[in-house]
Amino acid sequence: MSSLVAHGIRTVGVLGAGQMGTGIALVSALRAKVPVLLYDRSTEQINKGLALMDKLLEKDVNKGRIESIHAKEARDRVTVVSQEDGIKGFRDVDMVIEAVSENLKLKQSIFSSFAAELRPDAILASNTSSISISKIAASAVPQNISPASEEGKKTASRVVGLHFFNPVPVMKLVEIISALQTSQDTLDRARSFAAACGKTVTTSKDVPGFVSNALLMPFINEAIMCLEKGTATRDDIDTTLKLGMNHPMGPLQLADFIGLDTCLAIQKTLYEGTSDSKYRPSILLERMVDAGWYGKKNGKGFYEYNA
Ligand code: 3HC
Repeated sequence: MSSLVAHGIRTVGVLGAGQMGTGIALVSALRAKVPVLLYDRSTEQINKGLALMDKLLEKDVNKGRIESIHAKEARDRVTVVSQEDGIKGFRDVDMVIEAVSENLKLKQSIFSSFAAELRPDAILASNTSSISISKIAASAVPQNISPASEEGKKTASRVVGLHFFNPVPVMKLVEIISALQTSQDTLDRARSFAAACGKTVTTSKDVPGFVSNALLMPFINEAIMCLEKGTATRDDIDTTLKLGMNHPMGPLQLADFIGLDTCLAIQKTLYEGTSDSKYRPSILLERMVDAGWYGKKNGKGFYEYNA
């Protein structure tokens, strides 16, 4: 019996078909080999996600990394949830992974619906980059039930942070975040799922940004401040880090790649969650997001892209 089956994870739901959700759906279907239900409220986003999945599978086949039959099997494991069903479409899954944008209110409303619509033993995971998992877990408890009651604690104990990295098929890590309420069983099952997706797991306490973004975001922000102050040009900042420190991308290119709106949202969570000025977002980043420049995803950030 595989460890995944032993942990009762036979079907997975993924909410959000952006770059993260699509990648998570792909590794779940290809590596963990579980049937995946994929839902996004935007049909256009779903179509984009499926097209990306097809492209990545085709590339794996062309490079001889997987047999075409395995690519087809993986693709066949992914089913799109209808707009009519929405979150109700996840009613039978063993685990759901939320991968929507970094917006606390949106995530709270999603987790409240998850708890209402999903099986009572399903794991409710969030791919959030920085938001408090304990806060998200509390939103899964219905309002007429006390979070301190046995029922409230049991509901929240199923919530966990499952933080994948972009691009999901390439990056080897999943950071698992335990909320105050998360049970050991939920952690074990989440770890087993991430391992089945071919990822190495690290764990972090539920602090703003966890380990990964508490370290990465001040680094990116400092690079933006260097540009803002005129310390060096964009290219010199990125080249310094790429060639001087062997980073695969310079920090400004990486910010574009993650999404400037996402970087700003994470930095605000860090700043608000710690009141530490070292996390204060740079004005330049704020203004670029004000201007609607979100980086690679919409064609303009520190660099220009074909959107
Ligand atoms: N999806 C899937 N695969 C992708 C991809 C994508 N979006 N982008 C690139 N790849 C694949 C390529 O197809 C290629 O695969 P191949 O070896 O089979 O041909 C492989 O990655 C290498 O790509 P390239 O040769 O085109 O380019 P690079 O060698 O420059 O690698 C990169 C691209 C892997 C993205 C590399 O630049 C890199 O590692 N950058 C840093 C990425 C990073 O730090 N990610 C973490 C961001 S932080 C985060 O996600 C957390 C969040 O909370 C903010």
